[in-house]
Amino acid sequence: MEVGVAKEIKPDEYRVALTPAGALELIQHGHDVLVETGAGDGSAFADSAYEAVGARLVSVDEVWSEAELLLKVKEPIASEYGRLRDDLVLFTYLHIAADEPLIRALVESGVTGVAYETVETANRSLPLLAPMSEIAGRLAAQAGAYFLEKPLGGRGLLLGGVPGVSPGEVVVIGGGMVGYNAAVIALGLGANVTILERSIDRMRHLEEVLGSRVTLLMSSSLQIEESVADADVVIGAVLIPGALAPRLVTADMVREMKEGSVIADVAIDQGGCVETSRPTTHSEPVYVVDGVTHYCVANMPGAVPITSTKALTNATLPYVEAIADHGLAEAVARDPALSHGVNVLDGKITYEAVAEAHGLEYHPLDDVLPLSPV
Ligand SMILES: NC(=O)c1ccc[n+]([C@@H]2O[C@H](COP(=O)([O-])OP(=O)(O)OC[C@H]3O[C@@H](n4cnc5c(N)ncnc54)[C@H](O)[C@@H]3O)[C@@H](O)[C@H]2O)c1
Repeated sequence: MEVGVAKEIKPDEYRVALTPAGALELIQHGHDVLVETGAGDGSAFADSAYEAVGARLVSVDEVWSEAELLLKVKEPIASEYGRLRDDLVLFTYLHIAADEPLIRALVESGVTGVAYETVETANRSLPLLAPMSEIAGRLAAQAGAYFLEKPLGGRGLLLGGVPGVSPGEVVVIGGGMVGYNAAVIALGLGANVTILERSIDRMRHLEEVLGSRVTLLMSSSLQIEESVADADVVIGAVLIPGALAPRLVTADMVREMKEGSVIADVAIDQGGCVETSRPTTHSEPVYVVDGVTHYCVANMPGAVPITSTKALTNATLPYVEAIADHGLAEAVARDPALSHGVNVLDGKITYEAVAEAHGLEYHPLDDVLPLSPV
């Protein structure tokens, strides 16, 4: 198969969808790898490193027109919509539940859109979201600590305190991959940490791994209201796969928060779980509403591309190999986890939560993609 790797052009995005090591694996499987010139620059992978393993360096036009399977990191942006075509399989983060123009472009082009973030295993884990969630969670705690500093508009509080002075309060809403990693770093910095979760099983697991160092509370509107009012840092980390994030923290609750406190709404890529959140970028990561600093960067792992690119390709490569080796239909038939990744095919939406988020018709994948027998 012709496997393309496009350069990311979204502002402040430095990751690339395949490392030279990953390119070599695909080439050893007998595939052609086309890498857009400069695609790896932001992650410290020079063009020569791809050439050295046998990949072909091509222009932006060539990579988009020649690839049968195109690997990206972020969703196509408006200037790329015209490049989508019906004989292309696009494998990338799509996050379409919160993006109306994108879903229209995907549907109208007939492209097959396979979203990293909805690939889901039988035990309901999200293997291609997990590595980025680990990174975003860790960064969220760092960002919270950083923006509490007075010269940056914060309360002027050292999150970890010092002997004789209380540490800050970190409230994490959603104790999944982002939430757990945010809690680990916040605890490491010395903060008091509360996690609000709604899955009791998940809370039991968090208690096992984090012990009594965190307070675990059942998430409800009332509990969120109380916890958020006491917090110095609130980290939004909920997820309902494929769906818009529920708006759990209302504008009224934000108004009751302490002056100079920080909200890091990591769930912003699914629309955000705080009513006053709107997406920001690494160049302008924060804005203030009612005295509360909002950090809502939609592609947080893009800030640490050397770590993120390697973590991402470690996770995606087996799926990329499966699609390249067997073709999408057979790869999906062999692996139900991958079938959950198919969001759009032939102009039809094949992921229920995405269709629901846009009020559009849902077509079960089996009806649209004739699955080859294994
Ligand atoms: N901004 C970024 O750069 C970035 C990077 C990675 C992930 N994310 C986003 O972070 C969010 C969390 O991702 P994740 O990998 O941790 O997901 P996850 O599925 O591992 O965890 C989500 C958790 O939220 C919990 N939850 C659901 N509804 C809740 C509620 N009402 N109250 C409390 N908890 C609730 C779930 O039980 C689950 O444990 C997602 O929206 C994801 O897209 C953003």
